[in-house]
Amino acid sequence: MTKIETCLFDLDGVIVDTAVYHYKAWKRLANDLGFDFTEQQNEKLKGISRARSLELILEWGGVEKTELERAELATRKNQWYVDMINNMQPDEILPGTEDFLKALKAGGYKIGLGSASKNSGAILQKVGLKSYFDAVVDGNVVTTSKPDPEVFLKGAELLGVDPAACVVFEDAIAGVAAAKAGGMKVVGIGEPAVLTGADLVVSGLDQMDIHKLKALES
Ligand code: G6P
Ligand code: MG
Repeated sequence: MTKIETCLFDLDGVIVDTAVYHYKAWKRLANDLGFDFTEQQNEKLKGISRARSLELILEWGGVEKTELERAELATRKNQWYVDMINNMQPDEILPGTEDFLKALKAGGYKIGLGSASKNSGAILQKVGLKSYFDAVVDGNVVTTSKPDPEVFLKGAELLGVDPAACVVFEDAIAGVAAAKAGGMKVVGIGEPAVLTGADLVVSGLDQMDIHKLKALES
């Protein structure tokens, strides 16, 4: 049996609901470029890096851009996104998050963040959760995106724990796959029919407790 020592959390869709802000900013960009961008398409961008998201959106819109133009478009989208997250309030933390983080701290678990977002640090700071995290690994320090396990393996390494002693909390299919590829346990946040690779699926962190976490030890 491997004892669980560490919890690694994805950010967007697990701790805070920022998908709506990503959606608004991408939609504005797509509309400026002359095509639409739907919520269904936005779903497919969960866990996907900014640069790759833009490539997909341009593909869906049938628009080609040079690398330089793509860099400018990604920056423009991010400025709109940052303007929106700058107005985020602590009440935009998803239900149950802080209670669960407190329970983990009290139980002696290590806590890490594993997100594709380059805005992770700013968001954690903004909503007042930064102090719970012993390590933050985000889009600024990884070279490969989920489903590659790099983001979670780096987290385990920084925290000095074996991947098998880690549980990852993820809302994206790519993130669940990344955790599994890293040899970790995964709790999916969302629908069991969608997050089929997860060891357990709950609707949100408000459905988690230490007992359910320990039940994942095997
Ligand atoms: C998360 C979100 C994605 C987003 C990515 C990069 O994984 O689920 O939708 O594209 O982070 O975010 P960033 O804040 O760096 O643009
Ligand atoms: Mg996510």
